[in-house]
Amino acid sequence: MLEVLPLLPADPILGLSAAFREDQNPHKIDLGVGVYKDEQGNTPILTSVAKAQRVLLEQETSKTYIAPQGVQGYIDGMLGLLLGKNHPALIEDRVAAVQAPGGCGALRILSELLKRCDGELTVWVSDPTWANHVPLIGNAGLKIETYPYFDKATASIKFDAMTDCLKQVKKGDVVLLHGCCHNPTGADLTNEQWHVVLELAQERGFLPFVDVAYQGFGDGLDKDAYGLRLLTSNLPEVIIAASCSKNFGLYRERVGLAVMVTQNSAVRKSIQSQIQSIARGIYSMPPSYGGALVDIILNDDALRTEWMDEVEAMRVRMLSLRHLLVDKLAEKGANKDFSFVTEQKGMFSYLCITPEQVRLVRDKHSVYFVESSRVNVAGISLSNVDALATALVDVL
Ligand code: LMR
Repeated sequence: MLEVLPLLPADPILGLSAAFREDQNPHKIDLGVGVYKDEQGNTPILTSVAKAQRVLLEQETSKTYIAPQGVQGYIDGMLGLLLGKNHPALIEDRVAAVQAPGGCGALRILSELLKRCDGELTVWVSDPTWANHVPLIGNAGLKIETYPYFDKATASIKFDAMTDCLKQVKKGDVVLLHGCCHNPTGADLTNEQWHVVLELAQERGFLPFVDVAYQGFGDGLDKDAYGLRLLTSNLPEVIIAASCSKNFGLYRERVGLAVMVTQNSAVRKSIQSQIQSIARGIYSMPPSYGGALVDIILNDDALRTEWMDEVEAMRVRMLSLRHLLVDKLAEKGANKDFSFVTEQKGMFSYLCITPEQVRLVRDKHSVYFVESSRVNVAGISLSNVDALATALVDVL
């Protein structure tokens, strides 16, 4: 019976890595999948993570199952990082949380939770959004609609169109927001715009679902949590999918967190049981390893400081690479103003060029990035920026 299923096209993001590996051009450039890279193009293990691995090797005495919710020190550490210490919802015992296999695992189990709450609700996602949001949410059986977000023509957020749309969202619907470093555009809401979103959520009664996958890569660990903390401090319910893939560099360990800020402690208890039963029915319990490392880092003052410095170094380097590319494009005489790239935040930028130009730059110059024109800024380096700018100017 298995033969009834057809071959599917490659994943629009992960498929780029395979195509890049096969390309024999020694000067090929990979700006595809969102992983941090150093000047040599490597994705090294963070020093704080390497130290935590050694601690864990010494400390761990058993491989028996962990608790269904995951590593408690990890959960507590991450809640502090996301919500800030002494958040009222934490003090009032209103926050349910489970460790999940990556941000994807968190997005999926939270979608299943929404389905259990109301199978008819609609999840509103930004246009555009991360390509995998749609299968992660849609495969849970939820309806998805888009709200306007980014205007490629002006390389900026269409905030009026976004708010006009959110004014029509029904009570009980869900609005997916990127906490920071919007993937794919790198265009983030300002603090003032977050206040408008809060007012709309209060007026319309929609539930914010915040995806936080790049905390620390935009303006810094605390500043990047501004919108998230604003919503969770002023609304009775918010759900959050967080990931440690990028800011801890723990990609392959699949470390995420599903968080549900609820209206009171009784609801918190029910929702905790529901999310654990959902996880049990899919993968039983999360893998321990990555969460155990984050627990060690966040709960040790010296390691935490070292990790924060490492996140800051990655952030500053990506920001400098944005400037490097924009300056180089101008120097090469690009017939388009790319200065908006320096305003965008985090790991990604939308170059706002056409899919044909993206295909051409790949086929002719072996420069790989997503067809939407999303580039992974961390793939730019001092050694490839000249060739990259030359290739882009050629196809413009
Ligand atoms: C990306 O957006 O490139 C990353 O989050 C990797 C992925 O799973 O798509």
